[in-house]
Amino acid sequence: MKIAHFTRIGFILAAAGSAVGLGNIWKFPYMVGDYGGGAFVLIYLLTILFVGFSVLVAEIMVGYVGRSDAVASFQEMAPDKKGNWKYAGFMGLTGLVIMTFYSVVIGWILYYMTQSINFLPETMEVAKEGFGDLVGNQIGTQIVFHFIATLFVMSILLQGIKGGIEKANKVLMPALILIILGLLIYAMQLDGFAKSVEFMFAFDFSKINSEAITQAVGHSFFTLSLGMAAILTYSASLPKHTNIFKTAFYVVILDTVIAMMAGLMMYAFVFEFGQDPSAGPGLVFMSLPTVFSQLGGLGTFFAVLFFLALAFAGMTSAISIVEPTVQYAMDRFKWTRLKATTIASVIFFTVGIFALLSYTADYGKMFTFGGMPLFDILDKLTTNFLLPFGGLVVAVFIGFVVQRERVYAALSDFIGETTFKVWYFSVRFIAVPALIFTLLNLLGIISISKG
Ligand code: PHE
Repeated sequence: MKIAHFTRIGFILAAAGSAVGLGNIWKFPYMVGDYGGGAFVLIYLLTILFVGFSVLVAEIMVGYVGRSDAVASFQEMAPDKKGNWKYAGFMGLTGLVIMTFYSVVIGWILYYMTQSINFLPETMEVAKEGFGDLVGNQIGTQIVFHFIATLFVMSILLQGIKGGIEKANKVLMPALILIILGLLIYAMQLDGFAKSVEFMFAFDFSKINSEAITQAVGHSFFTLSLGMAAILTYSASLPKHTNIFKTAFYVVILDTVIAMMAGLMMYAFVFEFGQDPSAGPGLVFMSLPTVFSQLGGLGTFFAVLFFLALAFAGMTSAISIVEPTVQYAMDRFKWTRLKATTIASVIFFTVGIFALLSYTADYGKMFTFGGMPLFDILDKLTTNFLLPFGGLVVAVFIGFVVQRERVYAALSDFIGETTFKVWYFSVRFIAVPALIFTLLNLLGIISISKG
């Protein structure tokens, strides 16, 4: 199968577009609040540095060498082509599970964008009520916006790599970064900023517990789009001789910096307005509109622009979340892009409806299992288990299965022997044990919460 090629800068933007998404701006800030502030941030940063980066290089390598959909790429790289390693490529299906709730959240964002034109809450209390009402009561509205989000994602996917994905990323990524930067500069003038810095960076070791570890490791995979063949699938369209090591480095830096900026800025606002930092998934929808309301007409403008950019950041990630499935279905079953995209979208759209219903007052009970709403189950299943597990599979594959010479050959144009050794060591003896530890830790948490 012939795949249209990215340009080099196009690939970096697309990979960064995949990484930088709702994970950075919607999820990271509220997770910091929910799981212990600085302690969570510290584990998150350590994982990115010592595990995430190495695994990202490994993942890009599989696509770059395999040059096909995820299943065929694993097969191509495996020493025994008839063996079972190709099944590792099915990690791409995790994307369909992520998309169920991801699309709902893009829907919320689109709703807030239109809502902000007429109304911005003046206090956090009002903002909190508004968000609670949306997710708790407004079923029709949520489904409509979830549907609009699905249509947008589909329409970009249908254009394929060149026409849609690369173009969308080129315009929207820089716009988003500028807006966040502007908000951060504004936040720095507030008294709440010092508190925000302390909250995010005061590493209180007493707050490190097994749940914080699981969440932080899982989130570092989520935010780097790791463990489900997203960037792997993009990498199959990389021009030969692209420096995959440097590319991975840029993606990690950009992703981490944006998450930090978003967190610092949002908590400055939260503390400035005297709110509780553990606001959960509603955080971004409560803190920022309240701030924007202080800025008069200009605030309305910024609010609309912010939610627009956030929706786009979500969409550039969403396309990478669905693309592995689409690419596989096209290669394997010879489906058209239209057919593959439509079927994948119908699946995540439908399950997404059940996910959003699980937060509502009327149907919540019906879609709550073992005390957890379906929305949270889908989120935790992917973030805490499927993504770290996928990452472990990639790390074992590159670290222990593929011949060392072959791995070295893929990188030798870009890095020297010593750097290679350090990276290879970290895949084999840091990433693999750390991920096994995290997954065992998760089993422990599950058995404790059952008992
Ligand atoms: N990295 C994206 C974000 O932070 C989400 C994502 C997860 C994208 C997995 C691709 C694969 O929002």
